[in-house]
Amino acid sequence: MASPSPIFVFDAFGTLFDVHSAARENAAVLGDQASRVSEIWRAKQLEYTWILAGIGEVAPPFREITRLSLHYALNVCGVPADVAPILLESYQRLAPFAEVPATLRRLKADGAKLAMLSNADTDMLDDLVINARLEGVFDHLISARVAGTFKPAPRVYALATEVFHCEPAAITFVSSNRWDAAGGKAFGFKTLWVNRSAAPDEYADLPADKTVVDLSFII
Ligand code: LAC
Repeated sequence: MASPSPIFVFDAFGTLFDVHSAARENAAVLGDQASRVSEIWRAKQLEYTWILAGIGEVAPPFREITRLSLHYALNVCGVPADVAPILLESYQRLAPFAEVPATLRRLKADGAKLAMLSNADTDMLDDLVINARLEGVFDHLISARVAGTFKPAPRVYALATEVFHCEPAAITFVSSNRWDAAGGKAFGFKTLWVNRSAAPDEYADLPADKTVVDLSFII
């Protein structure tokens, strides 16, 4: 009997798509606050998801969390809130990291099954895929919204085993977010940490099975 196709499930933000590309694209309006706004925006966006997941009530859409966290970041950095709409529009078109399209296509051509598993709403994932011209590459785009909460709640990771009808250990979960790789490992996935920024390792009790510097090293 042929061995089953390998299954790769990818986090979206920071792993496949560069969250800082929206601020970079709008550097002219953000001026010298561009990278600070972007860092605070991302940090607050994640914080809101963790807090909401911990509180345990049905979570608001990720689009709304992204909007609220941007407004917080602009406020902290003293940037007028009227730039928010153009930044949010750019966020719908975040750039994939350079090696991502070719690597995903190669995995797909080699017979792997591919999915994204993200906190983002389904329409946000659709926009990212269309903009990056990755239509037809993923077997599934899985939104945490279906589970009504956010990572690292186990029921979000469980969505991947449900769509692929498999055990957690049959999935290689790929994330650049170390806390997300830890969440996936706790759920039972094989995990691959994409350490793009040469960050020190964390979560020693939930080690990544493999660490790479960018996605091309998966192959
Ligand atoms: C996501 C965030 C965690 O895509 O990067 O789910």
